Amino acid sequence: MIQDIQPIARNFRFIGIMIIIVGTIIQFSDESEFVVYMSKLGLVHVPKDLPPKTEILDMSQNYISELQLSDISFLSRLKVLRLSHNRIQQLDFSVFKFNQDLEYLDLSHNQLRKVSCHPVVSFKHLDLSFNDFDALPICKEFGNLTQLNFLGLSAMKLQQLDLLPISHLHLSYILLDLGGYYVKENETESLQILNTKTLHFVFHPNRLFSVQVNISVNTLGCLQLTNIKLNDKNCQVLITFLSELTRGPALLNFTLNNVETTWKCLVGVFQFLWPKPVEFLSIYNLTIVEDIREEKFTYSKTALKALKIEHVTNQVFLFSQTALYTVFSEMNIIMLTISDSSFVHMLCPQAPSTFKFLNFTRNVLTDSIFQKCSTLVRLETLIFVLSPNFVQSEWCHYELYFAHHNLFHEGSDNLILILLEPIPQNSIPSKYHKLRALMTQRTYLEWPKEKSKHGLFWANVRAAFNMKLILATENNDM
Ligand SMILES: *[C@@H]1O[C@H](CO)[C@@H](O)[C@H](O)[C@H]1NC(C)=O
Ligand SMILES: *[C@@H]1O[C@H](CO)[C@@H](O)[C@H](O)[C@H]1NC(C)=O
Ligand SMILES: *[C@@H]1O[C@H](CO)[C@@H](O)[C@H](O)[C@H]1NC(C)=O
Ligand SMILES: *[C@@H]1O[C@H](CO)[C@@H](O)[C@H](O)[C@H]1NC(C)=O
Ligand SMILES: *[C@@H]1O[C@H](CO)[C@@H](O)[C@H](O)[C@H]1NC(C)=O
Ligand SMILES: *[C@@H]1O[C@H](CO)[C@@H](O)[C@H](O)[C@H]1NC(C)=O
Repeated sequence: MIQDIQPIARNFRFIGIMIIIVGTIIQFSDESEFVVYMSKLGLVHVPKDLPPKTEILDMSQNYISELQLSDISFLSRLKVLRLSHNRIQQLDFSVFKFNQDLEYLDLSHNQLRKVSCHPVVSFKHLDLSFNDFDALPICKEFGNLTQLNFLGLSAMKLQQLDLLPISHLHLSYILLDLGGYYVKENETESLQILNTKTLHFVFHPNRLFSVQVNISVNTLGCLQLTNIKLNDKNCQVLITFLSELTRGPALLNFTLNNVETTWKCLVGVFQFLWPKPVEFLSIYNLTIVEDIREEKFTYSKTALKALKIEHVTNQVFLFSQTALYTVFSEMNIIMLTISDSSFVHMLCPQAPSTFKFLNFTRNVLTDSIFQKCSTLVRLETLIFVLSPNFVQSEWCHYELYFAHHNLFHEGSDNLILILLEPIPQNSIPSKYHKLRALMTQRTYLEWPKEKSKHGLFWANVRAAFNMKLILATENNDM
């Protein structure tokens, strides 16, 4: 049945599309009998003439509003069904009763409000996230999904025992979309999640963080939060939210994506996490708003080894550089990465630093970290990413640094030069004795232009030099 199509014009378009679809199937069945790819074809229902041998069926990003038994019952070999980004409002799990091999079902980003339960046993990946469910869509039959690895869900409200039917399963990943969660005043809900290695929450992209749920998880190893909007007032709501979640001793990795916050609240979150068992803290896409003033930070004993912040946007109107950089430069951790930011710069640590790995890739990096800084003495290897521009505008600081410290002798292997593009000898100013000497003695590594080779490139660098410490610098305007 085709829903929400009244005008004749749209029916007409539908006929046109069907012809294209048939073409697509035939074309694909030449290449592979089992994969049918029908994404983004404007489909309004599941085509009738799917090849019975189909094993992988992708109908994501269409306008399908219904899934019926007769649509797929004859696909007895179906293993993977992708239906994300459609308009399905109801799902009866009995439609899969003849698809005994179906192990991957993606129904994320539909308009599901209701599921009807039916025994299903083979799912390994079941994604019902980003739908319109009021309560978590859990059937007691899910308790028999002993092979289930990934479970994606969404809900507007939570109740403590919602996940009880699946509490004995050992899941790798639970994705919980709370974008539509509505907050009840003066009320804290609670939810028990018994076993999962990774738990990923996605919140509303534009609302201030306000979720008040006491969530406890037994064996959590990785916690991930996406879309966090904070100011000085609701900062404590997040910290309360995290307090039960971060209690477990197994929690090693904590990742935040798309964070908008005041500096005060960010420092507050760091401070909260400092005594926790988290070893790897990563923040991707951070926006700092309002102002940056001095905040107290107590560098207590910490399990944290690495802090990584990638892509920082500065929307601050009042900005104390010292307040910002001191918090980072004094951190008692081993690895610090701050990349792709417009204002990063570092101060010389006041006491001998624990840093062994610093990565300031893609920043407008200044040189003050190098000037008369003797507290970073554990630096053992230095990488330079050279471009003609960098040589012209920045190298002078490093010449100075070498003159002061005489750390890297000719012939030592501690210095690695990476050329972004060829730099002719005669283009190096003659006052740069050190650089000229280095360039004549050393073979360079060439930075691959293809992005797909960058990972391999770094792996080779690491393997070749068995680095204990890296300082990677790269200039933004290269
Ligand atoms: C789970 O499977 C067992 C046997 O495999 C069956 O007896 C039981 O009814 C099933 N439970 C549900 C809730 O489907
Ligand atoms: C919430 O609590 C505050 C103060 O305790 C009270 O003034 C308010 O009426 C309460 N709101 C509701 C909806 O109960
Ligand atoms: C949160 O839940 C856990 C266990 O379910 C409980 O021990 C703890 O006291 C609760 N915390 C709050 C603040 O209610
Ligand atoms: C935690 O993060 C680190 C660094 O990103 C990674 O190497 C490690 O595999 C992660 N651990 C888990 C349990 O995911
Ligand atoms: C970064 O986060 C902001 C919200 O803090 C969001 O508006 C923006 O879309 C995000 N950018 C990317 C590339 O995800
Ligand atoms: C430095 O950080 C960037 C951005 O996170 C990453 O792509 C790069 O691989 C890192 N460099 C090293 C040497 O680890």
